[in-house]
Amino acid sequence: MGAHSGARALWKPVSETLAVVNCSQLVTLGGAHRPRTGGDMRQLAIIEDGAMLVRGEHIEAVGRRREIEGQIPPDSEIIDAGHRLVLPGFVDAHTHPVFAGLRANEFEQRASGATYREIAARGGGIRSTVRMTRNASQTDLVKAGKRYADWFLRGGTTTVEAKSGYGLTLEDELKILRVIRQLDEETSLRYVPTFLGAHDIPAEYKSRRETYVNLVINEMLPRVAEEKLAEYCDVFCEEGVFTTDESWQILSAARCHGLGLRVHADQLSLSGGAKLAAELNTVTADHLEHTDLTGIMALKSSQVQPVLLPGSVFALGSNQYPAARQMIDAGLAVVLATDFNPGSSPTPSMPMILSIACTQMKMTPAEAISAATINAAYSVGRGGEIGSLEKGKRADFVIHDVSDYRELAYFFGLEHSWRVYASGKLGFARNVSEARP
Ligand code: NIG
Ligand code: FE
Repeated sequence: MGAHSGARALWKPVSETLAVVNCSQLVTLGGAHRPRTGGDMRQLAIIEDGAMLVRGEHIEAVGRRREIEGQIPPDSEIIDAGHRLVLPGFVDAHTHPVFAGLRANEFEQRASGATYREIAARGGGIRSTVRMTRNASQTDLVKAGKRYADWFLRGGTTTVEAKSGYGLTLEDELKILRVIRQLDEETSLRYVPTFLGAHDIPAEYKSRRETYVNLVINEMLPRVAEEKLAEYCDVFCEEGVFTTDESWQILSAARCHGLGLRVHADQLSLSGGAKLAAELNTVTADHLEHTDLTGIMALKSSQVQPVLLPGSVFALGSNQYPAARQMIDAGLAVVLATDFNPGSSPTPSMPMILSIACTQMKMTPAEAISAATINAAYSVGRGGEIGSLEKGKRADFVIHDVSDYRELAYFFGLEHSWRVYASGKLGFARNVSEARP
């Protein structure tokens, strides 16, 4: 320790303050301290010709360039955004980013007409990733995870909710959650860990499903809670996977251990997931492709946040998108996320999700941005810390190489991030021309 502190004294200290100036639009998402609903989802609190002052890991001030310029301390690092767009880092509130191997073979099979369910029924799907992930070491998984962390960052994402769920044994689930912890410590990306031991019934428990449910409840959950490896618990509630009764048992047990609740609901069929989420008052209900108006109203009455995952609808070649407009009209605080995973949604790109949300679900670009930032932040229990650019929040921000926020979803299939900062530190930089068009 002594040697280290001596060495540290020789380092030139990094400037404590950072000033971001010359932003065409500083999209702050500032406002009421709650998730956005209805017409408020279209209010982005944009500062034209904006600037921002960052001290250490946090935002000190945002305002018009003239207001901020007078407050910049002399030794600050100045970042000239070059008349580019500045946005809070995206918060991706539903991902499965720790897995071994890929499933490009299944992608090819689906392109030739096979369905996701057919592939799963013959031993592919989640179970194939489980086989490969069980055989992988923590080191292998961290190595792959870092590659994906890089992909998230370059898409402008600074926080991900990350689920386990490709282990399905006590040790393998713990291994995945430890990988998530290590990725959080060793990358610029922030991870919010979720235990998804109930992602599938493992092949070896096929005829003893009750035994597996008990294993999740009596052995996995207590260890996960004891080692503080997760903040949330999720269940894949679906016909042929976990029934509403089993999901209820698992989620109720998780609640007793102090975990927040999320649920994969009504993804492939109307299987009662949204209703269950409302009954249990979960924090989120995710997917909801098949949820009807009754389900939407149930979510509304319990203030459950819907997390919509249009990337999986797109990648599965379906056109059954969730009813985003009905949900917004009903007053739900809609969230958008990638569902990044090797099967149903192999994309870490929030800009791509924004495009699909606008073109296929008829969300406006502003609604999509609220869903991907401030609402997503609340859905992972960090609404007071991230998701908007306001005094006191973490300096998680992205300078995008466009000048208007609508261009992020309008130009699709490419990423625009130019500089990505997490807690005031540069996490990704792209080498593009300095000149703005
Ligand atoms: O959210 N639906 C369950 N889980 C993932 C799919 C995981 C996989 O195919 O590997 C999802 O779509
Ligand atoms: Fe998922």
